[in-house]
Amino acid sequence: MDLFEQILRRHPPPWGDVLDAGTGASSWDWLLKQTCRSRTGVTAEEPRAQALRARPGVGPQDQVLVGLWQDPTLLENRRFEVVLGDYLLGACDRYAPHFQEEMIERVVSKCSGWLFLIGLEPLPFPTNPGQTCLFEVAQMRDAVQLLLGNRPHRELPQAWVERHLVARGARIAWKERYHNLYDAGWVAREVASLEQNLQLLEDRGLAQVLRRRCHGLRQTAAETLSKPVSYSYDYLLGVDCR
Ligand SMILES: C[S@@+](CC[C@H](N)C(=O)[O-])C[C@H]1O[C@@H](n2cnc3c(N)ncnc32)[C@H](O)[C@@H]1O
Repeated sequence: MDLFEQILRRHPPPWGDVLDAGTGASSWDWLLKQTCRSRTGVTAEEPRAQALRARPGVGPQDQVLVGLWQDPTLLENRRFEVVLGDYLLGACDRYAPHFQEEMIERVVSKCSGWLFLIGLEPLPFPTNPGQTCLFEVAQMRDAVQLLLGNRPHRELPQAWVERHLVARGARIAWKERYHNLYDAGWVAREVASLEQNLQLLEDRGLAQVLRRRCHGLRQTAAETLSKPVSYSYDYLLGVDCR
């Protein structure tokens, strides 16, 4: 059973008004399949919003807003029976560094029923060669983002999120963990997207050195990840905001 199936099992639809607080193709498409009064998606990115508005199944009662959670007028006077925060907190640093605590507060304040928070536990230090390769790929991906002047994702530990929810007076009714499996195919996809980003680097010499490193990572992945390796986990929190 995956994370979304778990939500359906615990809280079967129909639902009232639903908020996808950090929307994207996977969460929006899933919500479009669920019976509810209306769906509202929030994203910081205009191109993403445009693509989601055009998905099959979007009705007149649904809307995708471009806005920032740091804007106090975002969704002013609106509350939702179901709120989904699907990998939202980990992406927060890209738009609002160190705003995660307030983001939790704002998102909780929009919920009159159930809040479902999904996150990735930050990668722990590796303990085997497969994990070492995965860790190095993730470090390279983030390093290239920094070199390009962007802020990479910053995942938050489950314990941190729980602590801040409880400090805000929220009640965590249930929680689940899903251990993640990675293989050489995952490395190939990450490294390919990383190489695309390297084309944007102005320092061509540096880009060349990093491309060699990408090649090395692919080789290491072939040696250490021929079988999928378990590394870190996704967590799902069911928060009772009634
Ligand atoms: C990693 S994506 C979420 C994945 C998404 N649920 C999916 O199905 O693909 C993070 C989303 O949260 C949004 N986001 C992150 N920080 C934000 C902020 N401070 N204000 C508004 N939206 C934010 C991003 O624009 C994006 O739409």
